[in-house]
Amino acid sequence: MGFPQHRPRRLRQNPAVRRLVAEFELSSRQLILPAFVREGLTEPNPITSMPGVMQHTMDSLKATAADAAQRGLGGIMLFGIPEHRDETGSAGIDPKGILNRGIAAVREEVGDELVIMSDVCLDEFTSHGHCGVLDEKGAVDNDRTLEIYAEMAVMQAEAGAHILGPSGMMDGQIAVIREALDQAGKQDVAVLAYAAKYASAFYGPFREAVDSQLQGDRRTYQMDASNRREALLEVELDLAEGADMVMVKPAMSYLDIVSDIAQMSPVPVSAYQISGEYAMIEAAAANGWIDRKASVMESLLSIRRAGAEQILTYYAAEVAGWLNEGKK
Ligand code: PBG
Repeated sequence: MGFPQHRPRRLRQNPAVRRLVAEFELSSRQLILPAFVREGLTEPNPITSMPGVMQHTMDSLKATAADAAQRGLGGIMLFGIPEHRDETGSAGIDPKGILNRGIAAVREEVGDELVIMSDVCLDEFTSHGHCGVLDEKGAVDNDRTLEIYAEMAVMQAEAGAHILGPSGMMDGQIAVIREALDQAGKQDVAVLAYAAKYASAFYGPFREAVDSQLQGDRRTYQMDASNRREALLEVELDLAEGADMVMVKPAMSYLDIVSDIAQMSPVPVSAYQISGEYAMIEAAAANGWIDRKASVMESLLSIRRAGAEQILTYYAAEVAGWLNEGKK
């Protein structure tokens, strides 16, 4: 019997060798924690479909941001849930609106120790739950929505966000936002484009997280899961419009897209491990069907391996804790 010529197992024989040859690893500095702040709350409110994730009060949001900075996270992505919604999402452009107040409070708390990002989108603010305003036929009106995004972006920049995350998938949104920021003297505020954002069933728990009123779906503006090539077009357009970073969302069911974009993008590539991805891991782990910590780490590593640098994940703070423990 001949011996095998090649023995890849040699480099797997113990943890020290495996660590030496590991190609990818997670680092806290590249993890971004999404966080929800809700107007009128007196106590943090647990989100049932996302065990361990809360709608925050202003105070608990500040504490969460301070903790994120202390753990060495890269950033925090803020979402606001207003008390009152209307057809045009006017709470989104109110400088005293919940999201803008949240941004300001977090900026005051952590300064430049943590990158403060905010969601530029109308769905949390509209009574119908769509990411834009509706025309008389009930369709999302792209260009009227752009005007509102421009105003929203300036408000968020003025409140103190370092990076804006337009997530509404309106055509031309990056150009309009960049132009508005520059005109307002906010040349230093960066734009992280949700370039390839797919219409996904895995957003389910997020709808609970922001008490979404959405009727119908977002298929006229978010991308179709059937398409791969189109993601490259979205990225090219966003780059031409001035995006500083690009994102793929969701992450786990779209790792091919992450990989494609990582190969062509001259700017940093991020991916968003969304609410439904979190919920799946939590539900399976709670049933004892998978090992929670190992599954979380593997899921995030797969996103890194596909080529994303920054990862938005509801696990960010916890994973940073694990990574910090590992260093000791
Ligand atoms: C839109 C927005 C959504 C998410 C982030 N930004 C919801 C949607 O597009 O339906 C989803 C995030 C998640 O599911 O974790 N403002």
